[in-house]
Amino acid sequence: MDVLEAISERRSIRKFKKKPVEDELLNRIIESGIWAPSAGNIQSWEVIVVKDSETKSKLAFAAYMRDFIAEAPVVMVSCANEHRSSAIYGARGMDLYCIQDAACAAQNMLLAIHALGLGACWIGAFDEETVRNILEIHEGVRPVALIPLGYPNEKPYPPIRRGVEDVIHYKKF
Ligand SMILES: Cc1cc2nc3c(=O)[nH]c(=O)nc-3n(C[C@H](O)[C@H](O)[C@H](O)COP(=O)(O)O)c2cc1C
Repeated sequence: MDVLEAISERRSIRKFKKKPVEDELLNRIIESGIWAPSAGNIQSWEVIVVKDSETKSKLAFAAYMRDFIAEAPVVMVSCANEHRSSAIYGARGMDLYCIQDAACAAQNMLLAIHALGLGACWIGAFDEETVRNILEIHEGVRPVALIPLGYPNEKPYPPIRRGVEDVIHYKKF
């Protein structure tokens, strides 16, 4: 799939078929995350893969009862690794770069998920401490995005976007 096509046609998917996702596809998705840009190529991110029903239900609870999270065959959690980034870049690495690294990886994975005929949604609304406890995430690693994914069972219309002329700001000095 052409990358520009993947960028414009990817949609947030919140309804999934019961069909499981093959491990080979999961590996290809994570490989796409690994090829994302990262500050200094330090790759300050980790990904947790959850398939277990009970854990997915707990994650749905932590995300304020969004049940579709529990119904996805897989939930990936893109995490920022503050240790890796701050060891090189100090406070900026800790507060910013590792979050950006995890976000870049998450976006690459969303595009790969779409290109492979799967669907997913970035979930940012969750209680971080609860997710940390459910997944026993170590200190210094922050969950940034829950990514429930599976074979799509909906085809949402593209939501309206701002126009180029609205986001662009030319400076004339
Ligand atoms: C940082 C971020 C946080 C988001 N959090 C949520 C969320 O908590 N729940 C949800 O249903 N969608 C969430 N989304 C998905 C957005 O609602 C979605 O990307 C947006 O409406 C545009 O739709 P599209 O992805 O289909 O183009 C989030 C997306 C981003 C990038």
